[in-house]
Amino acid sequence: MSIVKIIQLRDLSDKRGALSVVESEVDVPFKIERVYYLFNTDIGIERGFHAHKELVQMAVCVKGSCNILLDDGVCKEEVNMNSPLKGLIIDKMVWHKMSRFSSDCVLVVFASNHYNESDYIRDYDTFLRMVESE
Ligand code: TYD
Repeated sequence: MSIVKIIQLRDLSDKRGALSVVESEVDVPFKIERVYYLFNTDIGIERGFHAHKELVQMAVCVKGSCNILLDDGVCKEEVNMNSPLKGLIIDKMVWHKMSRFSSDCVLVVFASNHYNESDYIRDYDTFLRMVESE
């Protein structure tokens, strides 16, 4: 099964312009407890390099573009985020890396829980060991 889960967000555009919406437990399969966003990312910067033990997230590139690499310890897939209507689920226990940020990129992330550093796995070998022991 692919680790890439894309959610096609609702397009409520009309002749005045574009509109989309993310409703907790409607457009995302979890209760949204936190929203954060990455912007003004320097060219060539790569971010992420971690997985979460429990947190589930959905990323939407609302402006510009970037790439998100997903790695469940077995498969790796890279997704080009280039549309405000394309939601990418970053599931728990998925190592992820964001790269190739355009200078105008705004990446919004909806998360299933509040920030909690103890939910992070920041060491790749530890991540692989945890996947193997599951
Ligand atoms: P981090 O998640 O490590 O960023 P990235 O994975 O994109 O490289 O977060 C960077 C810093 O910001 C880190 O010190 C934790 C802090 N932070 C919060 O305080 N709250 C948040 O919701 C997030 C996402 C990060």
